[in-house]
Amino acid sequence: MAMKTLTLAIIFFLLLLDCSTARKPKALRHRRPCKRLVFYFHDILYNGYNAKNSTSAIVGAPTWGNTTKLTSNNHFGDMVIFDDPITLDNNLHSPRVGRAQGFYIYDKKETFTSWIAMSFVFNSTQHKGTINFVGADPILSKTRDISVIGGTGDFHMSRGVATIATDSYEGEVYFRLRCDIKLYECW
Ligand SMILES: *[C@@H]1O[C@H](CO)[C@@H](O)[C@H](O)[C@H]1NC(C)=O
Ligand SMILES: *[C@@H]1O[C@H](CO)[C@@H](O)[C@H](O)[C@H]1NC(C)=O
Ligand SMILES: *[C@@H]1O[C@H](CO)[C@@H](O)[C@H](O)[C@H]1NC(C)=O
Repeated sequence: MAMKTLTLAIIFFLLLLDCSTARKPKALRHRRPCKRLVFYFHDILYNGYNAKNSTSAIVGAPTWGNTTKLTSNNHFGDMVIFDDPITLDNNLHSPRVGRAQGFYIYDKKETFTSWIAMSFVFNSTQHKGTINFVGADPILSKTRDISVIGGTGDFHMSRGVATIATDSYEGEVYFRLRCDIKLYECW
């Protein structure tokens, strides 16, 4: 009887050992990004005076606001559509390597925070294809992570996390984000 219990205990122990070793390679594989890319994109919001220069516009506002000026209450309820130039460095006038296209909404009255859904669209000799992002963007945090949920072309089936940081801003008209993309799934 004691022998049987011992055998069972050994089998159980071996099973445990097997499970833990089987899981390890997978965990290791996901720890380091398979690709890393850093871009900057520039958002110039239409404010009634910069129709030519602007790259984004308020398209929805709550009843107490309008589409020319961001609302009070931390811009709560405003929705902005953008087609922003992407550059490799932090200079607005550097060559554009693609466009950041999508929308963001301001989604909290009590603090300054937003939610963003966008694609980086590339059509250059360097990159062709898209990277798609979605997630909460608590603007006041120095850095925030949003999900890379997929990609096409050079970025076929990509997945990962992008760390974004506000690199600069000018009032309500201009902001520039640094986007540090870490892909953990590459094809
Ligand atoms: C466009 O907007 C940017 C950012 O506010 C500013 O630096 C630039 O001078 C503007 N250009 C024109 C032509 O207004
Ligand atoms: C939009 O709202 C602001 C105040 O929030 C006001 O100053 C401005 O005149 C309004 N613009 C239009 C076009 O209604
Ligand atoms: C990409 O660029 C090429 C060459 O300039 C052009 O022919 C093509 O239409 C562009 N594709 C897209 C999706 O913009």
